[in-house]
Amino acid sequence: MAMNFLSKFVEQFKKPAGCMGRLAGLLMAGEPAKSVWTVSLLNLRKDDWALEVGFGPGRAIESLSRTITEGRIVGIDISSVMLRQAKKRNKEAIENGVVDLILADVSSPPPFKRKFDHILSINNIMFWEEPVDSLKKLQKLLKPEGKIAITVQPRMRGADQNTVKEFGQQIKENLQAAGYRNIHTHIRQMKPVNCVCVTATI
Ligand SMILES: C[S@@+](CC[C@H](N)C(=O)[O-])C[C@H]1O[C@@H](n2cnc3c(N)ncnc32)[C@H](O)[C@@H]1O
Repeated sequence: MAMNFLSKFVEQFKKPAGCMGRLAGLLMAGEPAKSVWTVSLLNLRKDDWALEVGFGPGRAIESLSRTITEGRIVGIDISSVMLRQAKKRNKEAIENGVVDLILADVSSPPPFKRKFDHILSINNIMFWEEPVDSLKKLQKLLKPEGKIAITVQPRMRGADQNTVKEFGQQIKENLQAAGYRNIHTHIRQMKPVNCVCVTATI
């Protein structure tokens, strides 16, 4: 019974729904370090366009909007519970027309008016059905000089520094298979386990 509850709760991080999903969102919002770090790896300018896949409670969107004040920040996520939390967290930037949050799956992103300078995704790629295929679709949305950043901090039971390296290697291989170039792996010390971010260009 307890395990059943636990596994249902863990499932909430894939697509938060209902009251357990709201709780998962609050927990994720309480851990902004990986969002802040990922955003710091992008060379943001105030009029850039950025796309975040799987924005969850909207911490990285909030972090992006500290620098991007005259461009556009678009977020896609499949969870309507996360959409509500992220909209609340980013109310002012949405009202100012800088942030636009949309319900959409990375496997079929909606059309956008122009290409992005930055695409990022945090603790999300492991949930994508076809990661290489989705990375190819994101590639088409990135400007030639743009950068993608895919971050994972593995939080499953027993995850350690080897798990972090394995995730980094897997992301790198997915990016290579999708045809990205200039692939770099960055590791940041964090608690309870390190965080890996792999960046690349098209
Ligand atoms: C573990 S949460 C991470 C949220 C946020 N990036 C963070 O680090 O706090 C994963 C998020 O990705 C979303 N997600 C899962 N699969 C997705 C997909 N195929 N396309 C878009 N979003 C997805 C979930 O709804 C959830 O909000």
